[in-house]
Amino acid sequence: MDYAVEMRGINKYFGEVCANHQMSMNIRRGEILALLGENGSGKTTLMNMLSGIYYPDAGQILVDGMEVTIRSPKDAFRLKIGMVHQHFKLVDVFTAAENILLGLEGTYAPKKAEEEIRALAGKYGFDLDPGRAIHDMAVSEKQTVEIVKTLYRGADILILDEPTAVLTPQETEKLFSVLRNMREDGKSIVIITHTLGEVMAISDRVTVLRKGEYIDTLETAKTTPQALADMMVGRSVTLNIERPQPKNTTPRLRVTGLSCRDSQGVQVLKDVSFEARSGEILGIAGIAGSGQRELCEAIAGLQPIDGGSIGYFAPQNPEKLEELVGRAPTEIRDLGVSLAFVPEDRLGMGLVGSMGMVDNMMLRSYDRGPSFFTNPRPSKELAEDVKEKLGVVTPDLQTPVRRLSGGNVQKVLLGREIASEPSVLMAAYPVRGLDIHSSYLIYSLLNEQKEAGTAVIYVGEDLDVLLELCDRILVLCSGRVSGIVDARTVTKEEVGLLMTQLGEVKTDG
Ligand SMILES: Nc1ncnc2c1ncn2[C@@H]1O[C@H](COP(=O)(O)OP(=O)(O)OP(=O)(O)O)[C@@H](O)[C@H]1O
Ligand SMILES: [Mg+2]
Repeated sequence: MDYAVEMRGINKYFGEVCANHQMSMNIRRGEILALLGENGSGKTTLMNMLSGIYYPDAGQILVDGMEVTIRSPKDAFRLKIGMVHQHFKLVDVFTAAENILLGLEGTYAPKKAEEEIRALAGKYGFDLDPGRAIHDMAVSEKQTVEIVKTLYRGADILILDEPTAVLTPQETEKLFSVLRNMREDGKSIVIITHTLGEVMAISDRVTVLRKGEYIDTLETAKTTPQALADMMVGRSVTLNIERPQPKNTTPRLRVTGLSCRDSQGVQVLKDVSFEARSGEILGIAGIAGSGQRELCEAIAGLQPIDGGSIGYFAPQNPEKLEELVGRAPTEIRDLGVSLAFVPEDRLGMGLVGSMGMVDNMMLRSYDRGPSFFTNPRPSKELAEDVKEKLGVVTPDLQTPVRRLSGGNVQKVLLGREIASEPSVLMAAYPVRGLDIHSSYLIYSLLNEQKEAGTAVIYVGEDLDVLLELCDRILVLCSGRVSGIVDARTVTKEEVGLLMTQLGEVKTDG
């Protein structure tokens, strides 16, 4: 078999940390290969050596059967290898076309380049307006720019590092159809993802890594999600979520008639009313863009409100209803209402990449203002606690969080919110980008919060998880509440129906 790429016996160390040990893998022409492994298993590192970000300490790389040396992204592009990273590297004030042309040698006629880019995007089925500025784009569009950028530079081997972690299920479907078109066209694609369903849906083969070592490569059609999970973790894993009975439920948030518009003046939340209670997990379900984000942001004080009220009952003074509408985000957080909004841009959400865990904990304490003084726990202790509880893999607490693997960055972010001991914890898409093991860890942490009396609001897109984890599920449809259902008795089909239309399912307060 002549492979597009072969990697043999690759070693890569970062100081004491062995990220890749005797790693090998190969990529065929015209295939989609999934790269699977737990957080920190060495996937990104291995791919960074193909794309010229890192240089291996040992081993060989062959492209089209010839041994090559890849010392820079330029070298990689010369070999027609392009990579789209977890954190995008686009210049915000430039247009898509300007970003795509950035760094290319020679001069380009802007209009002509725009036409070429448009044609290239159209060929594979992307939606892309080359003249649009990056800062006006949603994450999925930015990702499209990154992919088209590699294609425009002639990439035949395309590496996508967790592209779906920032996408909604609908956008993921779209991306997959584009990837299939590229495969059709003879391109080789490596896709990193933690979602086994995606591995099964998109890949021809799957390579499994564990703790920096190569484990095996399988034909996707001949394996199962359970077998892949076991192989990844190294033992048999049970994929099952606990759901303790809610205890001592009292109202924490009472939202009534909440309405919001987005910056374009479009109404995104319409007359939303519900209660979130201590000691339970309230799930929020809905098709992407049905108002989930705006709802969380409105409660957190990050979204201007058109009408309605958000009442908060603090645990210390449960009789007194505090109105949250009109308060500053920091004030709302100080009251104990916390938003861990994880997905879009992990390093943008209040973590400073160049700082270690300890300093990032402090950052949170500082911007909590006065409570910095009332919260006696030193940030070092907090950081240690988060590291231990969530199993964050980091050489030490001072290592800049930018150097941690993607999933570990996410654990730091969620861990910091939990460590602030909120009485209302909103977790939006907290398991995006996390491996299966860590996802189940997050579910059990949310359960722990619930049992400690926190009112947990969980925004998720995986209906199976919502149905297994939550006590009640609020379903949003076009910014309205189409139902609030008992998660123990409702069926997946009923929730699906509520998501797509204002259904007739019996609702439960
Ligand atoms: N620049 C770096 N400096 C120090 N350590 C690093 C660096 N890059 C990666 N590592 C370490 O190497 C190991 C492998 O990291 P890598 O990012 O390749 O994992 P991953 O499989 O991509 O994980 P994830 O699924 O979380 O993205 C981790 O322990 C990580 O902390
Ligand atoms: Mg990674």
